Amino acid sequence: MNTSSSKIILCIGSIYVETNYLELETGGKDELAGGKEYQSASWEMRPAGSAVNVATQLVALGCKVKLIGKRGRDEMGQKLCSLLEGRGVDSSHLVVSKEVQTSVDTGVVFKHNGNNIQLVSGGANGSLCYSDIINQSLDLDNVGAVYLGGMAKQHALITDYPKLISFFNEKGIKVFLDHGRIPVDFSEEKRQLILTSIGLVDGYFPNEEEICAVTKTNRLTEAVGRIMEIGVKLVIVKQGGNGCTVATPNKIVHIPGRKVEVLNTVGAGDAFNAGFISEYQGGKSPEDSARFANATAAKRVGSKKYFIGLNL
Ligand SMILES: Nc1ncnc2c1ncn2[C@@H]1O[C@H](COP(=O)(O)OP(=O)(O)OP(=O)(O)O)[C@@H](O)[C@H]1O
Ligand SMILES: [Mg+2]
Repeated sequence: MNTSSSKIILCIGSIYVETNYLELETGGKDELAGGKEYQSASWEMRPAGSAVNVATQLVALGCKVKLIGKRGRDEMGQKLCSLLEGRGVDSSHLVVSKEVQTSVDTGVVFKHNGNNIQLVSGGANGSLCYSDIINQSLDLDNVGAVYLGGMAKQHALITDYPKLISFFNEKGIKVFLDHGRIPVDFSEEKRQLILTSIGLVDGYFPNEEEICAVTKTNRLTEAVGRIMEIGVKLVIVKQGGNGCTVATPNKIVHIPGRKVEVLNTVGAGDAFNAGFISEYQGGKSPEDSARFANATAAKRVGSKKYFIGLNL
């Protein structure tokens, strides 16, 4: 089934080359010591970042997608393009700069418990800014929706988020936002920027912890109430194995999650976002889109593979 709209869905956000060392032997410890060499059983390399994950899943669902992010004019940047193309994501709208290094994320995953350590480097993502995005030569008449992923970590862009969302609003393009995890040391100024941005979007996709952090409340119903008060028309709160809650100005509905054997929860939220947007843009109701999103994410969670063509 493919009910996706024929218009382009534009995904904007951080883009990484992610390399993971799997089943690292650390003698049962959750730490690495200086001067030692550690052996892992195997490694994997993939393109990563919320916008990349959503773009990849949307492509798998049969949607037309464009991706905007920033990379360096370096070998890792070229590698990132080939990894994206390998997953069917067009890399021709990435901003390329010789001033920055492509962002990389290298993880080690411990054999004894599956915990991981991530090492991040490269300045490309942190330098993505408003003018980088709006100066991309894209025919916006063909863009039906924009997905903005990972706002909370985009240090250069965060202050211009309200301006960026307004730019698309003025062109009649729907905007969906998932700002991602709120760091514990987040400033009040940034929290206010997030609230202002949420007030401008057509759909807001936090998880339970994130909506509580951004509204400074402990209870979901109160958090959703505060967000609806600032004028948002559609809030979908992701709740892991419990599914999600869909809030519109008229009602709040809980949609239970699918029962699935959990193999890998990485990227569940992004798979959910993509499933929701593809259906919603195809004209489905928020509740039906959320059911499909739960099913898309459950397939992700129940698979060791990252992105799957779905036949639901
Ligand atoms: N154990 C599970 N069983 C079934 N479905 C699940 C499970 N975990 C997650 N999901 C599905 O994935 C969706 C998103 O997961 P979650 O609530 O963890 O979002 P998230 O915290 O934003 O994820 P991420 O860490 O990927 O950003 C859920 O709403 C649900 O549909
Ligand atoms: Mg998430």
